[in-house]
Amino acid sequence: MRGVLSSVLVTLSVLLAVNANPIVVEKRAQCANTLNIAKSVATRLQNHYFNTGNGQYTGGSLWTDANTLEDLHNLMLATGTDEFGAVADQSYIGRMAQDSGTAHWQGVLGGSNDDAGWIVMALWKIADYKSSRGLNAAPYLNSALTIYNIIAGQWDGVCGGGVWWSTAHTYKNAITNELFLLTSATGAINFPNQAPYLANAQKTWTWLKNSGMRNSNGLWNDGLTQDGSCRNNGQTTWTYNQGVIASGLSALYAVTRDASLLTEAEITLDATIRLMSTNNILRESCDNASGPGSCNQDQQIFKGIWTKSVQFYLDRANDASRNAKYSSYLGSQSSGVFHFGTNADNDVGSVWYAPNAGGSVFTPKTSASGLEAHIAAAKYGPC
Ligand SMILES: *[C@@H]1O[C@H](CO)[C@@H](O)[C@H](O)[C@H]1NC(C)=O
Repeated sequence: MRGVLSSVLVTLSVLLAVNANPIVVEKRAQCANTLNIAKSVATRLQNHYFNTGNGQYTGGSLWTDANTLEDLHNLMLATGTDEFGAVADQSYIGRMAQDSGTAHWQGVLGGSNDDAGWIVMALWKIADYKSSRGLNAAPYLNSALTIYNIIAGQWDGVCGGGVWWSTAHTYKNAITNELFLLTSATGAINFPNQAPYLANAQKTWTWLKNSGMRNSNGLWNDGLTQDGSCRNNGQTTWTYNQGVIASGLSALYAVTRDASLLTEAEITLDATIRLMSTNNILRESCDNASGPGSCNQDQQIFKGIWTKSVQFYLDRANDASRNAKYSSYLGSQSSGVFHFGTNADNDVGSVWYAPNAGGSVFTPKTSASGLEAHIAAAKYGPC
């Protein structure tokens, strides 16, 4: 009975949603000073780390390179200028997108469904940029569709649903499914009425909500137990998991206008601010200003992804009172990056929450992370 009722409700909401007019990304005046700081960090990031020979960041990785490309295009869409306009086609990911001759994406992805989700987001952002400049975005859109379909094929009924973290099918976790929510809902905005984006977004949120991965503090743990019991595994609440869920929920809100999705998102955003900050600045559990932190290479970019996700959350929520609610915290992140995180060369280190006393590490991931904090603050922070 309940099952029948809820499937009727889902069907109804899908029908209603098809008639809704998705919210488009809000255009706002941006803080010129913060954008200039972002540009300095981005310029240094390209000069220091980007290898035009192989199109990769030295010391980077596929998924963090994808985020960095998304960031550069997010920045150029904000500034209206084209300093990094050649990077997409030079990049390894861009070269793969332009190489339509072979069905190579499975090989590039190496079975990693979360990496795949990040690449879809990067390809769509590059396509937005190219379209905005009257350039051909088709190779990027086509590759995004190919990859999206690969991920969608990774959904099955183990643990009641969800896509697997990798094609090894050993682990169902938060980030892969948050990204599947985000890409599905973004697809529903970008390509209205094209099945199966909206239906995938709805089913993914329904599954995530009932998965147990959000704990009693409102924070998302890493994933589900792998012994068949499908319980919250209690592993680390990484900052990026607390952001991507909000970005995905507001994209779904933009299509459905179901405001309860924003309430759900803010449970987690507010818990992040309350529980994962030191000096009102994000602190990853592995960050340590004064001694060797234990963050691995992946974890070095998480905080910036949280700030980027808040930007995308506010873009889709399109609500001045919500902008005001998060403004000062976004400003604090940019300020922490600038005053505590950045060295004399404009490289940004891993530690934002306090002055570097030897524990901050400097990599292309940490510079991209800091860049994200500035871009988000330029749009929604104080100026
Ligand atoms: C941070 O590093 C310092 C210096 O090595 C060490 O004494 C301290 O225990 C570390 N703190 C944490 C939380 O790991």
